[in-house]
Parts: sequence; structure tokens; C-alpha cells
Amino acid sequence: MTGCGSAAPQKLIENDRLSEIMETSDEWIASRTGIRQRRLSDPTGSLVQLATEAAKNAIEMAGIEAIDLDLILLATSTPDDMFGSACQVQAALGASQAVAFDLTAACSGFVFGLVTAAQYIRTGAYRNVLLIGADILSRWVDWSDRRTCVLFGDGAGAVVLQANPVDHLLGFELRSDGTQNRCLNLAYSGTPKALLQDCDITKGQFQPLTMNGQEVYRFAVKRVPEVIEKALFRANVSIDAVDWLLLHQANQRILDAVADRLKIPSEKVISNLAKYGNTSAASIPLALDESVRQGAVKAGDTIAASGFGAGLTWGAAIFQWGR
Ligand code: ACO
Repeated sequence: MTGCGSAAPQKLIENDRLSEIMETSDEWIASRTGIRQRRLSDPTGSLVQLATEAAKNAIEMAGIEAIDLDLILLATSTPDDMFGSACQVQAALGASQAVAFDLTAACSGFVFGLVTAAQYIRTGAYRNVLLIGADILSRWVDWSDRRTCVLFGDGAGAVVLQANPVDHLLGFELRSDGTQNRCLNLAYSGTPKALLQDCDITKGQFQPLTMNGQEVYRFAVKRVPEVIEKALFRANVSIDAVDWLLLHQANQRILDAVADRLKIPSEKVISNLAKYGNTSAASIPLALDESVRQGAVKAGDTIAASGFGAGLTWGAAIFQWGR
């Protein structure tokens, strides 16, 4: 990973502002989640714009040009276009040599994308890959459901991965369990419509995000430590050798519980969710970018990253930052 970047909408909404539209408080939200504010995309903003801005920053840090990119992976659940938004990012960047496509794995999207990108590099198919995690969940949460809407925010993060004689992806483990899909989804719902005498179709739309918070909490604090331990085992890296725990930024209580189970001290846990809320596929690269630019994460540091969310999906990747 030779470059990272991030972007967030200008509009900043603190917890107290949400109490103008629902019965909630900064005290409730901050004490249960650690979230203090979130950024929300305004009606002129697009997923492509956010993703492109984050990508430009990552490309600049990597010291390459957009034309050098072979592959662009856009991890998102909230594209501007249901057919995918990666090609529009490709066009906005002028990355005319790159093939681009979307990858959907909700809040696990960045980790799944990282492993996918690495496979293309390992096979020798591609040398320079841009991986973006971006989401505008404010479009899809139910703003009258205080149990969910207060948790989410909008943003984008990106990394550039380049072929290297030394493989810096040390180990990974990815998991899915579709039997638990009902815990967290954003599902299409349509009403039947007769097209021909013997042919019905449906017309409808995606419904707002629904979540069983307690089930998702239990799932995360059980499955995330397991998958990180598995990935560490595959990487032959001990817990003590991990410099940073970089989890999907869903909730501070989840971060604390996972770190506690793994016996990783809090100073090694990267957290910026107080400022952004849960930005889904964007959260890991956004937090990584801030930590790198603040000088906390340094070249050669070993990072244990884990994403988890809808699907259900979860996964971990152990990697070393930098060239
Ligand atoms: N403000 C004030 N009160 C609230 C709010 C709110 N925003 N939301 C819920 N409440 C109330 C409820 O109505 C309930 O009141 P009642 O007992 O009178 O009915 C009370 O607070 C407790 O509600 P619970 O839902 O039981 O609250 P809980 O302690 O479980 O906390 C939370 C909810 C924070 C969502 C927790 O379950 C959690 O963190 N779950 C993990 C969810 C998560 O992180 N999901 C994202 C991961 S996956 C992904 O990123 C897509």
C-alpha cells in the first residue's frame, strides 16, 4: 500500500442537532456509541465526487498518475448508479487504462476489496490497483428511526496498492453468513404488476436500512476477534507484533470489546468514529488515512484490519503499511 486518501462532505451535524428532528440526545448517542458528529452529503453531492476526491489524494501520495492504474475497485453499497459507479470514477480520474468495477460487501467492502486487489497483483495480472471504500448511507437510513439513523455518516477513503517483490498482505480470512441477512439489510421491495397475461413483474424500490442493533452487536464482538485470530494465524503474526488494530468504525463499544478480547491495548486501537459515525465501506480507509497523515501509522507497521456488517459479512486482513 503506497498511498492513501480520504474525503468527507462539508456538512457537519453534531448529535444535538438530531434532537431537533427526533427524541434523542448527545448523551444517549455518545455514551452508547462514542459518536459525536457525522458528515452528511448535501443534495448536490455524489458518491462519485466523494470517491474521486479520496482517490486523487491516494494517487498523489503514491506518487503515480491516474493513467498508471490498471484496476479500480469501488467498494460501496450506495452507488449513484445501480449498474455501478466505478466507471464514472475512472472517467473523473482520467484513468483510461484501468478496468473499473464495483464490489458490494457493505461494511466489509474495504477488507473484501483489499483481498480481491491483492489476488490480481499476486497473479501478476495487474501492478497498480486503486481501491476505494465510499458510502452515502444518509440516502438510505430511515431518518425517523432513532435506533439506526444516528449511527451513520457519509465519506470515502482510498488506497493505492502496487506490486512489490515483498508481499505485504501477510494473511487474511473472509466469511459470510446469509442465514443472518435479516439482522441488517437494505432490501428491494416491489409490488406485483401484470406485464402480459401470463407474465408478472414487480415495480418497487429499496427500503430504508433496518437493523437489529443488539444482534449485530453480539455478532460483531464474537465473530470479529475470531476472524482476526484466524488471519493472524495464517500470517504467522502474534498479537503482540500487531502495531495497530484497525476495525470498521461502527461503535466504540464494539472496538473496545474486540480489543479487550484480543488483549490489544487501547493505544493501539485506531478510532475516529466520534467525528464521522459509521461510514460503512469508507470507515477503514478513512481512519487509516487520518492515522497515516497524522504520523501515527508509519511505513512497516503491522496492521490488523477487520470489517463486518450486512450480508452478514466479516473478514480480517493483516498487512504492513507502506512500500
Ligand atoms: N436516542 C435515544 N434513545 C434511543 C435511541 C436514540 N438515538 N435509540 C434507541 N433509543 C432507546 C430505545 O428506544 C430503547 O428505549 P426503550 O427501552 O424505552 O424501548 C433504549 O434506547 C434502548 O434501545 P436499544 O436498541 O436496546 O439500545 P442498545 O443499548 O442496544 O444500543 C445500539 C443500540 C447503539 C445500536 C447497539 O445495539 C449497538 O451498538 N449495536 C451495534 C450496531 C452497529 O454498530 N451496527 C453497525 C455495524 S454493521 C454496519 O456497519 C452496517
